[in-house]
Amino acid sequence: MDLPRPDSDLPALSRPGPLLGGRRFAIAARRLVTCDPSRASTGDPLGVIEDAALIVRGGAVEAVGRRHEILHPGAGIEIAFEAAGVVTPGLVDCHTHAPWVGSRDAEYAVRMAGGDYEAIAAAGGGILASMRAVRAATTGELAAALRARLLRMAALGVTAVEAKSGYGLDEASERKQLEAIAEAGKDARLPRVVPTYLALHALPPEAAGGRAAYAGLVARSWLPAIAAAGLARYVDAYIDRSAFSVDEARPVLERARALGLGVRAHVGQFADVGGAALAAELGAASVDHLEQVAPEGIAALARAGVAAALLPVASFTLRQAPPPVAALRAAGVSLLVGSDANPGTAPTESLPLALALAVRLYGLTVAEAILGATREAARSLGLGDVCGAVRPGLRADLAIWDLPHENAIVQPWGTPRALAVLRDGEVVAAHG
Ligand code: NIG
Ligand code: FE
Repeated sequence: MDLPRPDSDLPALSRPGPLLGGRRFAIAARRLVTCDPSRASTGDPLGVIEDAALIVRGGAVEAVGRRHEILHPGAGIEIAFEAAGVVTPGLVDCHTHAPWVGSRDAEYAVRMAGGDYEAIAAAGGGILASMRAVRAATTGELAAALRARLLRMAALGVTAVEAKSGYGLDEASERKQLEAIAEAGKDARLPRVVPTYLALHALPPEAAGGRAAYAGLVARSWLPAIAAAGLARYVDAYIDRSAFSVDEARPVLERARALGLGVRAHVGQFADVGGAALAAELGAASVDHLEQVAPEGIAALARAGVAAALLPVASFTLRQAPPPVAALRAAGVSLLVGSDANPGTAPTESLPLALALAVRLYGLTVAEAILGATREAARSLGLGDVCGAVRPGLRADLAIWDLPHENAIVQPWGTPRALAVLRDGEVVAAHG
């Protein structure tokens, strides 16, 4: 029997046909986690409604409330889903490197036997290994790999995904990754996709002039062209001791702001080199990783209202200590949780796995973890008026779980536990 090649988009999971076809319908749930701030309280940060129902019309949420209020006799509405467990907003993954191809399994084995991530990268592996695979792939192959990945993410309860380039490292190959994101993003039956140009990730081998010259080229030439083509909503830079410095990243991120794009940054994954202050100064949408960040950096983030995207799968894989979560929380920094899906530090596609590790390893409460992968993540991606909560006016992006309570979502199942996943009121993945 011929099996699909790795990275191909032959259906590992089949997608149901259009089941609901834009009809007006209701969902009843024993427990509805709304993430609606107007329903939240100190004792109930998730705004939970028990014995709940919601109405979906034209792909949007029309009404939310107690079952008896919404489904009163005479309402005459079809109940499309009767959920015996918990329903939540569809999960929002705020940090992924999803358009990759190729496998770095050999490097992983070396690392697990004691090899050092930064040393492997310095020797031409790591990000550069993925660069070679991405450069050798066509846009179609990248889009196929991304679609397959998005479909598997949907099956895990995810309905919106930030997707970064950053493995092309030359203008044509970065554009190829971003075009693959745009291509996959056209499919309304996959999670919605937010494109980020990861402009500074590693120095490609042909960049003889060094990091500052490369960053200058990106800021002057590649970035404006990518912005003009409408290929990115955010620009990201990896600011760290073996990546780019604050001075190298500044012209790129400032140019991004001048071009009207948002900014995100990989900061403090290995060392605090001042990235948090730069991100705060530029009003970044998020700073991500933060295993290493000094109190001044945390204060700057808090003052500027920059969210912290926690990526516990990466620190687990790299055997690192957690970020200073208690200090971030005490400073009032909004906490997000992302999968960091990538072939090096976070070989996963599972945001629920990241949530489980955020609770187990980082000490987030269940409510913090869920808000960081729904409402707060959506807000950070500029989707706060689109998804991330269950309230009238937002799109009907929902996950219906075969679990009795939201506490169960953050347990490390290792298997998909979403029974049905809806985007715009249509089923995009279903199990059972
Ligand atoms: O978020 N460390 C920077 N970027 C990625 C990993 C990239 C890779 O190893 O392919 C991260 O961890
Ligand atoms: Fe990352």
